[in-house]
Amino acid sequence: MINNIFEDLGAGKIVLEEDIKEENWEEIWKENFKPIEIPPFIILPEWEIYEGKDLIPIRLKIAMAFGTGLHPSTQIMLSLIPKYVSQGDKVIDVGCGTGILSIAAAKFGAEVDAIDIEREAVEECKINAWENGVSINCWQGSIEDISKTYDVVLSNLQMEIFDKYFKDLKDKFKKYWLISGIFKDEKEKIIKMCQNNDLDIIEVQSKPEIGKPDDLWHGFVIKHK
Ligand SMILES: C[S@@+](CC[C@H](N)C(=O)[O-])C[C@H]1O[C@@H](n2cnc3c(N)ncnc32)[C@H](O)[C@@H]1O
Repeated sequence: MINNIFEDLGAGKIVLEEDIKEENWEEIWKENFKPIEIPPFIILPEWEIYEGKDLIPIRLKIAMAFGTGLHPSTQIMLSLIPKYVSQGDKVIDVGCGTGILSIAAAKFGAEVDAIDIEREAVEECKINAWENGVSINCWQGSIEDISKTYDVVLSNLQMEIFDKYFKDLKDKFKKYWLISGIFKDEKEKIIKMCQNNDLDIIEVQSKPEIGKPDDLWHGFVIKHK
C-alpha cells in the first residue's frame, strides 16, 4: 500500500518491512484458501475454476481486507442476499471489505454501490468486481457520506458502529436492511433499537463461531413498519 502512495507521487518502488509481510501474507493466503460453499454461492480463489452448474461462483483475487467468506457474519449475509435482493434493486454495501457481498448482490441483478473507510478495501473491491465480471460503484467513505437512499442496505459491521450510526442507516433503505456482525447478546440491543425506531425484524439468522457452538453471530432482515 505504501508503494502505491510512493508510485502515485512519482517515486520508484521501495521495499519496506510491511511489504515483505504483505507478500508473505499473500503466499499464506494462496496456500490456505480453499473453495467455500455457501449456497447458492461458492467462494473461490481466483486461480480455481468452478466446473459445476449448481452454485454461483464468487472469485476473490486477494483478501487483505475482511470478507473471504470464512466468517459466520459474512456467511449469514450471503445466505440472505438471494431472498431479499431482486433484479434491478439499488443496493449499497456499507463496509464492503473485499466486495464479496457486493458481488453476490450484483450477481442477483442489483445495481450496487459499495463503500468502505479503508482505501485497501476499496481497491480490493474494484479488483474483485472486475474478476467476477460485475460492475460495482465502489468508493472510499463512511456512513455519513451516503447521500442517496437505496432499495436494500447491506451492512456487516460491528455493534459499536451500529450504536453510532443506526439512525443514519435506517433512513437509507426503502425495502430491506440486512444487518450482520452482531455477536451473542448484542442481539437484544438490535431488537431494542428496531422497536424504538419503528422497524420490524422479519428474519433472524444465527451461526456459531467456528469451533464454538455456543458463541452465536446474528444477522437480521429489517423493514419499515
Ligand atoms: C466486518 S467487515 C465486512 C466485510 C464484508 N462486507 C463482509 O461481509 O465480509 C466490516 C468493514 O466495514 C468497514 N467499516 C468500518 N467502519 C466503517 C464506516 N464507518 N463506514 C464504512 N465502512 C466501515 C471496515 O473497514 C471493514 O472493511
